Amino acid sequence: MAINRKIQTLDEFTIQQLRDFPKATGELSSLLRDMGLAAKRVHVEVNKAGLVDILGDAGTTNVQGEEVKKLDVYANNQFMGVLRHGISCAGIGSEELDDVVVFDDEISNQSKYVCLFDPLDGSSNIDVNVSIGTIFSVYRRVSELGKPATREDFLQPGTKQVAAGYMIYGSSTMMVYATRRGVNGFTLDQSIGEFTLSHPDIKCPDKGKIYSVNHGNFFQYDEPVRKYINVCQTKDKTNGGPYTQRYIGSMVADVHRNLIKGGIFMYPGTTDKPKGKLRLMYECNPFAYIAEIAGGKATNGKQRILDIQPTDVHQRTPMFIGSKLMMEELETFLNA
Ligand code: AHG
Ligand code: MN
Ligand code: MN
Repeated sequence: MAINRKIQTLDEFTIQQLRDFPKATGELSSLLRDMGLAAKRVHVEVNKAGLVDILGDAGTTNVQGEEVKKLDVYANNQFMGVLRHGISCAGIGSEELDDVVVFDDEISNQSKYVCLFDPLDGSSNIDVNVSIGTIFSVYRRVSELGKPATREDFLQPGTKQVAAGYMIYGSSTMMVYATRRGVNGFTLDQSIGEFTLSHPDIKCPDKGKIYSVNHGNFFQYDEPVRKYINVCQTKDKTNGGPYTQRYIGSMVADVHRNLIKGGIFMYPGTTDKPKGKLRLMYECNPFAYIAEIAGGKATNGKQRILDIQPTDVHQRTPMFIGSKLMMEELETFLNA
């Protein structure tokens, strides 16, 4: 049988990228492979979510008598588990955990990277069969190799990311990741159980027609944001308007769509929550990095997301992200 040379797996791709860097140790490829493995396990569970009544609800026991974990706890354990047992990661921070976890064993203390992730994003959509995802971010440690990772390793601004990515468990399962060399997307080929390169060198169109925001909060947004939303709705045809509103409520799915099609996604601060809802380290920084590498922009309304110096791994920030020209248009309102 002829081999289809067009197919390139995630592993093949990351290893090929290494060849251009003779000094590279392969730790990042290994970390990405670990993340891919955990994603495949989560994919299997996500696909069973509709069978929860048969297999057992969270906190109960299933037909095999095993305790069923909530899917976000399950996902957290999978990602933390592969990274703990891998060779590349000295510790993790997760939206699901109160504090960072420093692995502190002989191999992990020698590892170059730390990883922060939102193991399951859009978890309120699980029960209704709507796309959900995982978001992750990789930083090179600033602490001394050979010793356990420290707080400073985790509290680095987004500009220091060496890689960031996401998985989307949707009509197909995908893994998309960015390094400074580009953004590439891999679709899970279930027949062989491998992520295969399907979206090479993703670029975000400079403009699009989609805006994504929770309209239910409209009257809680600041005036500049409300004005911009009005512009999205009232733009005339000659200016490419009016824009189309699309909001899934899973950031991964909303931002993924806008990245491919062109568009803008916003989670502004509200009167109740001036810092909004999204977390800088698990959701905003990774997506801001991916968007910028793909040619887009991301801001909190005052400054570039990637420049924010974090003080707490769980901190929240308003978030505006998307196509370059649409972001520049938004900024004329935010800076007015
Ligand atoms: P998570 O499931 O990790 O808590 O994140 C959900 C987030 C994000 O994915 C989405 O964009 C946002 O919550 C939606 O929030 P609203 O329902 O307030 O619009
Ligand atoms: Mn989330
Ligand atoms: Mn989550």
